Amino acid sequence: MTDRHPLVIAIDGPASSGKSSVGAAVAARLGYRFLDTGLLYRAVTWLALQRAIDPADGPAVAALVAEVDLVPDDRGRLTRVFVDGREVATEIQTAAVERRVPEVARQPVVRAALLPRQRAYAEGGGIVLAGRDIGTVVLPAADRKIWLDASTEARAARRARERGHAPGSPAAERILADLRRRDATDTGRAAAPARPAPDASIVVTDSLDFEQTVEAVLAIVHAAAPAGEGSR
Ligand code: C5P
Repeated sequence: MTDRHPLVIAIDGPASSGKSSVGAAVAARLGYRFLDTGLLYRAVTWLALQRAIDPADGPAVAALVAEVDLVPDDRGRLTRVFVDGREVATEIQTAAVERRVPEVARQPVVRAALLPRQRAYAEGGGIVLAGRDIGTVVLPAADRKIWLDASTEARAARRARERGHAPGSPAAERILADLRRRDATDTGRAAAPARPAPDASIVVTDSLDFEQTVEAVLAIVHAAAPAGEGSR
């Protein structure tokens, strides 16, 4: 199947729903490329902060998009983020960037600047893209659309564990509060709000481990019906 018609697979969902790790694993199993579109928003935000540009100044931030580049790693995943010639993989994952990125992402002019980039990566298919609006706005004709979801508490707990914070600790509570705030901005914005496409398959991961989630997504990918024709 995948050889004859390399698919475009959209995996959207809220923060820390597992889109990136699950998406990367699904792409690896299929021999597809992988793009986590959040990296683009993070990189542009990081650069704005570096240059003391107000993240809410849409046109000024949109002008920075041209300076962001994603380079494939040795497994074809577009995970290497270069900004102004410098690799910034670690810098863009900080809480400081995370707090400001929704402000950048709600600017229509910034989203418009990033749109052709994301579409260009998807040309020719054979790619998994993770984001918030891939199935609704970036690639509404994607062959498969998956919305990965989990309760805010489960997602925050997952993130706290990854960062080595004890459940209920002040650091874990801060992660939960930050996640709530980011979700509210991402889902409440007027431009391309984070939401499942009407024809997306919803995968709720609260009671699934990583491997079970990958299997659930692969089952949707391998289903005969394309998005919108009964894959739900
Ligand atoms: O997925 P990740 O947490 O890395 O995304 C960081 C932020 O980038 C999100 O909170 C959201 O504001 C923005 N984003 C977006 N649309 C996408 C991907 C990310 O608005 N397709």
